[in-house]
Amino acid sequence: MSATITVHLKVWRQAGPRAPGRLVDYRAEQISQDMSFLEMLDVVNDGLIRQGDEPIAFDSDCREGICGSCGVMVNGVAHGHEPGGTVCQLHMRRFSDGETITIEPWRARSFPIVKDLVVDRSALDRVIAAGGYVSVNTGSAPEANAIPIARDLAEQAMDSAQCIGCGACVAACKNASAALFTSAKVTHLALLPQGQVERSRRVVRMVEEMDAEGFGMCSNEGECEAVCPKGISIANIAKMNREFFRASVLKPG
Ligand code: SF4
Ligand code: FES
Repeated sequence: MSATITVHLKVWRQAGPRAPGRLVDYRAEQISQDMSFLEMLDVVNDGLIRQGDEPIAFDSDCREGICGSCGVMVNGVAHGHEPGGTVCQLHMRRFSDGETITIEPWRARSFPIVKDLVVDRSALDRVIAAGGYVSVNTGSAPEANAIPIARDLAEQAMDSAQCIGCGACVAACKNASAALFTSAKVTHLALLPQGQVERSRRVVRMVEEMDAEGFGMCSNEGECEAVCPKGISIANIAKMNREFFRASVLKPG
C-alpha cells in the first residue's frame, strides 16, 4: 500500500471574472503519494461537494501532458517544480507530509480569470488563427517521399511543433510575453517546405495579433524556457525575430 500524506492547500478562489479573489485554506488528508496533483484536487473537491460547498474550478482534459489545459501556478512556479511536465504529470510523491502548497491561476492581462484556477487562454487560439491557412495541393495522397526534407530540419520543426499551448511561458514571464508560444508556431511551419507559401504573411500576422492581444514584449529573461513542459527553446524566439525581419524588410508581401 502506498504512503499517504496530509498537505495544507492555499487555493485561489474567485467566483467570477469580476469578483474579488482570495487564497482559501484547505486540508487534504490521507493523500496517496501515487496520486497525481489533479487527483489530489479531485479528492478535495469530493469532500467539498459532500459538505455542500462549491468545488474548486480547474481545467483539465487529457491528464497526460498533451492538451495544455491544466496549467496553474504551484508554489509560484508554472506547472510546479518538477521540470519537463505539466500539472497533470506532477505527482504527490514530490511533496512532503505537512507541506503547504499554494495554488494560483496563471496571472496575465491577456488571460482573464474565468473562475478560481480557470483562465481564458483563447488569446493564444487567436494568435494561431491569425496565422491563417497552409496551402496544400488537394487530390490523391502524395507519395511519401515526394517532398524531401533534411533530417535536421524535420527534427527542428518537430521540436517546435511540440508546443501544447498551455500558456506557462506567458505566466512565468515578468512581461507576460507570448513570444515563446508564437515563435514555436512560426518556426514549426517556416522550416518546412509546406509552410513556405504563406511564410511571410503568417509571421507578420501572428506577431501583430500577439501584440494586439496585450501580451508583453520579450526581454530575454529565459523564464519561459525554464517552465515550458515541452522543452521549447528560446532559440525559436530568435528565429521568429529573423522571420519577422525577413518578412517585413527583405521579402514583404
Ligand atoms: S511554448 Fe511551452 S510553455 Fe509556452 S505554450 Fe507552448 S508548451 Fe506551453
Ligand atoms: S490535462 Fe492535458 S496537459 Fe494536463
